[in-house]
Formats: sequence, structure tokens, C-alpha cells
Amino acid sequence: MATARQTIALAGVGNLGRYICEEFVASPDFDVVVLSRDAAGKPWMKNLDLTVSQTDYTAASLTKILNDSKASILVSVINLIDPSYVTVHAELLSACRQSVACKHLIPSEFAGDCEKYPLRPGYYVNTREPFRQMLREQRDVKWTLVNMGYIMDYLLPQSKTHMLPLVPEFPIDAEKWHATLRGTGDEVQSMTRARDTGRAVVELCKAKEWEPYTFISGEWTTFNQAIKELESYYGTAFSLVSTSYPLMHAITQVLSKADEGFTFEIALAQVEEMIVEESFTFPKEKTLAQREKYLGGMKFMSFRDLLKYAETVDKV
Ligand SMILES: NC(=O)c1ccc[n+]([C@@H]2O[C@H](COP(=O)([O-])OP(=O)(O)OC[C@H]3O[C@@H](n4cnc5c(N)ncnc54)[C@H](OP(=O)(O)O)[C@@H]3O)[C@@H](O)[C@H]2O)c1
Repeated sequence: MATARQTIALAGVGNLGRYICEEFVASPDFDVVVLSRDAAGKPWMKNLDLTVSQTDYTAASLTKILNDSKASILVSVINLIDPSYVTVHAELLSACRQSVACKHLIPSEFAGDCEKYPLRPGYYVNTREPFRQMLREQRDVKWTLVNMGYIMDYLLPQSKTHMLPLVPEFPIDAEKWHATLRGTGDEVQSMTRARDTGRAVVELCKAKEWEPYTFISGEWTTFNQAIKELESYYGTAFSLVSTSYPLMHAITQVLSKADEGFTFEIALAQVEEMIVEESFTFPKEKTLAQREKYLGGMKFMSFRDLLKYAETVDKV
């Protein structure tokens, strides 16, 4: 794909998007145009070498920006958990199809194993899955769905990352030293540092071809291991709450009410279900083979190294 310097268009740059954006700006291979509903972009963008283009996320507005900027790849990091995810992404796809040169699209996925568990969490049935179907039904635009597991930064004290806290969805709160274990805590979870996801997306955009599913994982760990690691590193003990109640039963009870409306309790149960059934865990052999083939063998930071690195910077 990448032979000369090319323009990457980034849509919906928020918390995870910031890491991806900063890594593209740092790369000598790309110019960056950020698509945003806000003409000014985010305050932190002001000192970066990038262009912000305001859009209402209609295909017409997006196509004009893609053509004017000569973008060749569009990456979405838009965060929507209702069916408007499909509407907005359909406009992005339509814009790529109509554009002169933007024929590669990475939609906003960045979660668990969507090849083996496409409908996890359950709300993906009305959001990500219908859009994936649209991608499969066309041939004009190449695409890949990036699976990254949990963002490893959530294991750090809040002050150390640009990611906003995900508690109580994420079981560990390293700010308050509190953890609510879901399942046994020994279920394996893939985790990747947010900035390594940014670096991996940059590498992916230099690759000559894509597969429908790209797996990246900095570490395969468990929440029990992560707690031990944090306790030994900082010398502080966690207050632990273990969900000893038969969890899958509780989850099933909550999820059976999903037809009555989407509540926070249901969203939490859907994520718990993923933790317990290990759908945030990626096939190791395939993930490592893709790392060599598409990501130039890039090195990912382990959790131990992330803890050490966090001491040397304000934000990781
Ligand atoms: N694996 C993990 O652990 C993990 C954790 C968190 C997030 N994620 C995933 O990472 C992706 C980004 O999440 P994030 O936390 O970085 O998101 P975020 O900061 O909450 O939002 C990202 C951007 O989405 C855009 N947006 C929001 N509502 C929109 C709307 N109605 N129409 C169009 N654009 C809208 C906004 O861009 P503008 O205001 O500039 O238009 C916003 O800055 C999502 O796919 C999310 O599921 C994964």
C-alpha cells in the first residue's frame, strides 16, 4: 500500500483515537487529516502537524474532504453504541466508494475477538455486525477489523493515561486499589497498550494487503495476574470483591431482560459475559504470525514494562 508519503484520514478522534493520531503524526510516512464534528478539533491537536476538517458525517461532506486531502486510507475511531454506529459508518463507506483515491477503511472496532464472537457484546447485533455485512457485500473498498483486546492502560492509575476510566465495566481500579473480580479472575484476556495500538495501526496502513480480521495483543494475561503484578510493583494491596454468586446464571438473568430496553446493568452483564467466556482472548499463533506479516514484527510493551515506563512520563 504505502510507497510514497500518503494521507491518512482519521474520523472521530477521541481517547483511543488520540494515541492513533499521535502515532500517525510521528510517522514520516503519513500526513494526517482529522475528521470531526468540531471545526477546532480537540485542544491537544493544536500543537500537532495535522489538519482538522469539519464534517457532519454525510457521504457528501466526507467525500469532499477525502478528495481535497487526497486521503488514501480512512480509519474510524468513532464511539457509538447504538444503531447510529451503522448509519455513520455507512456514510464513511459510501464516501470511500465515491472518493477518487480512498479505497481502504478501518472501521471503529478495537475490542474483543470479533471473528469468533461477532455478537459479543450483545449490542453489536444492531451496531457493528450490520455494518460488517455492508463491508462484505462490496468489493470497491478494502477493509480490516482490528481486534486489540482490553486497553492495557486501564490497569494503570487514571492519572497516567489519556483513556477515561472504564470502571465498573473494567474490573480493576488502580486509582482506588479496588477490584471486582468477574468469574474466577483466571480467565485469559488479551491486552494492548493504547499507544501500541496506534503504532500497530500505522504499521497496518503500510502493509501491502489486509486480512478481514487483524489481531493485536501486547500480552495474554489474567485479571488475577494483573492484580498480583500491581500489588508487587507498588507494594499496595487491593481490596477485592469476588463475584462468588454463579456468574453466568446472574448474567443470563440480566440479559434475558434485554428485549425490554438497553440498560447499564445489561451493558455490564454483556461485558462480564465476554470476560468469563474469554472472548477478549486472541488466538496466539495467528496473532503472532500477523504481527510478523503485517506489523513489521513490531515490539509490544508488556504490562511489567508499562508500569516502569509510566514512572518516566506524565501520560503513557
Ligand atoms: N478495547 C478496549 O478496551 C476499548 C476501550 C475503549 C474504547 N474502545 C473502542 O475504541 C473506539 C473509540 O473509543 P474512545 O473511547 O476513544 O471514544 P470517545 O473518545 O468516547 O469518542 C470518540 C469520538 O467519537 C466521535 N463521536 C461521538 N459521538 C458521535 C456521533 N454521534 N457521530 C459521530 N461521531 C461521534 C467523537 O468525535 P468528534 O467529536 O471529533 O466528531 C469522539 O471524539 C470505539 O470503537 C470503542 O469501542 C475499546
